Amino acid sequence: MSKLQKIRVNRIQALTADSCAIYFKVPMKDREWHFSSGQYISLEIPLNGEKLRRSYSICTSPKLEKAGLLGRKKLVHLPGIAVKRVEGGKISTYLNSDLKIGDEIDLLPPEGKFTIPQPKPEWIGMVAAGSGITPMMSHLYHLLEESNSKVVLCYGNQSWKSVMFKKELEKLEEKYPDRFFLYHFLSREANQEKHPQVVYGRIKPSTAFKIIRKHSLEAKPHYFICGPADLIQATKKHLKEVREVEARRIHIEWFEAPDSKKEAVEKEVEESGSVHSKARVILGGETHEVDIPEGSRILDAVLAAGLDAPFSCQSGVCCTCQAKGEPGDFITDDCLSLSEDEIKEGHVLTCVGQVRRPEVTINYDV
Ligand SMILES: Cc1cc2nc3c(=O)[nH]c(=O)nc-3n(C[C@H](O)[C@H](O)[C@H](O)COP(=O)(O)OP(=O)(O)OC[C@H]3O[C@@H](n4cnc5c(N)ncnc54)[C@H](O)[C@@H]3O)c2cc1C
Ligand code: FES
Repeated sequence: MSKLQKIRVNRIQALTADSCAIYFKVPMKDREWHFSSGQYISLEIPLNGEKLRRSYSICTSPKLEKAGLLGRKKLVHLPGIAVKRVEGGKISTYLNSDLKIGDEIDLLPPEGKFTIPQPKPEWIGMVAAGSGITPMMSHLYHLLEESNSKVVLCYGNQSWKSVMFKKELEKLEEKYPDRFFLYHFLSREANQEKHPQVVYGRIKPSTAFKIIRKHSLEAKPHYFICGPADLIQATKKHLKEVREVEARRIHIEWFEAPDSKKEAVEKEVEESGSVHSKARVILGGETHEVDIPEGSRILDAVLAAGLDAPFSCQSGVCCTCQAKGEPGDFITDDCLSLSEDEIKEGHVLTCVGQVRRPEVTINYDV
């Protein structure tokens, strides 16, 4: 089980007026910090007497980079994240306004399942909007630099000014003209100059699909989707129901739970059928007895018992708090980032999951 570690901020790069990239210097020999493209890092920031945890996708290549001073460059691992300020957002505002180079932050090492399947697909269609570009950047560096895969990216923003990683994407387009095809969707750009790879308006899933198919022709691309919850839901629905794309070719990273899900969660707490349970909790190689009251989220009870269980978003979207028991032991309707197969095998996201049997085992170490 991974624990929080103090990691120093090595570089901060302004991307747009309301977003920045933050790079960390991590212990080179520590394998926990090796990551795959598409994974995320969770951080904990003390703010106004509270300790707040949030997750941020890695935007850098998983390959080691050359860095150093005065020509004495050596290979180092410099994972970076990119953070867009959300209105009224506590941590995204702090990271964009107050964080300084040299500061130390408590971080959990990389994790997450929004990764590229093996063998690498011949074609990948990406649909991203706003800060949803962050995990796609890591995928792009990895796929273009280290494989032969071809990628079509449909990337939505309000205007040119709000496009994160604009220059980096242009460089990739120049370097890989036969393997990387970028389409911008701009919903509020005043200067609507005609360009074959710019669409003025929000991303429509049907338009994105047609663009991806125009390039990939008869091939069967894998689709990677990340952005606001309504874009994810609409794109997933279109791919599954209209285009009959198999679930294994649709990969999603949720940054937030959709509103419909939040309402369902409230309702479910009342109607869940959860029971009071005596749980055996396996964490960090040790076994603990924990009482989980009826109607309680598993993580709430585990933390209340004084155990240092891993968590971040606390809304069923990141999977930091994942644990496993016996199939059928848990109420898992809100576990957005678990696959149907994982749920059948007895996995649960403990921040939203509840218990439906009086005696269960909850194993965080799997
Ligand atoms: C796996 C994962 C990866 C993520 N990767 C990134 C990333 O690469 N870059 C990035 O900028 N963010 C990313 N996020 C979102 C990030 O973790 C925070 O949720 C976000 O920065 C808002 O936190 P906050 O403390 O500023 O806002 P809060 O103080 O928690 O919330 C303030 C208000 O903003 C709303 N809000 C919360 N999150 C969002 C959102 N994403 N979009 C719009 N409104 C929101 C809330 O409903 C609330 O009304 C990721 C989330 C997850 C689960
Ligand atoms: S803490 Fe993110 S899914 Fe539970």
